[in-house]
Amino acid sequence: MIIYKTEDEIKLMQTSALMVSAALSEIAKVLKPGMTTLDIDRLAAEFIRDNDAVPSFLNYSGYPHNICTSVNDVVVHGFPNNVPLRDGDIVSVDVGVYKNGFHGDHAYTFILGEIAPEVLKLVRITKESLFEGIKHAVVGKRVGDISNAIQTYTEREGYGVVRELVGHGLGRAMHEDPQVPNYGRKGSGIMMKENLVLAIEPMINLGTRHVFTDEDGWTIRTEDGKPSVHFEHDVCIKKGEAFVLSDYTPIEIAEKANANLNSSYYEL
Ligand code: MF3
Ligand code: CO
Repeated sequence: MIIYKTEDEIKLMQTSALMVSAALSEIAKVLKPGMTTLDIDRLAAEFIRDNDAVPSFLNYSGYPHNICTSVNDVVVHGFPNNVPLRDGDIVSVDVGVYKNGFHGDHAYTFILGEIAPEVLKLVRITKESLFEGIKHAVVGKRVGDISNAIQTYTEREGYGVVRELVGHGLGRAMHEDPQVPNYGRKGSGIMMKENLVLAIEPMINLGTRHVFTDEDGWTIRTEDGKPSVHFEHDVCIKKGEAFVLSDYTPIEIAEKANANLNSSYYEL
């Protein structure tokens, strides 16, 4: 069932989405080699609780942490752990908050220090592919138009588009209809109407598109061990141009100011 939101509900959803952006910005300010993903988890959870909200992922289908931190070959749903991050790692940080009855759910991939140029390009292209998808998140287009834009933009580079995990509707539940795959045919899927809110989240692999689940039952890894990148925005369908509820601007400002993070892909 597709649930369209009222303007008042969209304002509340923007509050939740921007709280995730703010949490990701706090992380971007301090992230550096030597920190652990559990440090990131604690920082995010504290920020969320201080803002009178609840981390959406904790206990979701039994998920045992506040956020997901997916390092290098981990695609998504990585458990925060006590392994120090190293120069040259990439880490996707996926944060959900629940406030005023609505979820925000968005993600950003950070780069620690010096990194192989091919991985830097994977990060840049994956981020750009999200915005290619968002161009189609407008009234009258179909979900498959978003999917196809992401697939076309990334497969052109020879990357693997993960099929097993998809974006989704977002609202009072973290996962609402419809599913938003990162692959598909133009003109397929439901036609989108005003005030549908979607979490669009390309998960793109440097090598094979194939993935597997770790023994922990959650962690999704690339089959070939090559890196994978994940970016996610919360997007409200509007006429002519989508209204992006979440915001990368404060994250990017913090990322550029943090000498331990490599943001050189902006200049490529
Ligand atoms: N962004 C992810 C999603 O949309 C977060 C879910 S992780 C979970 O599915 F742990 F909460 F399941
Ligand atoms: Co999501």
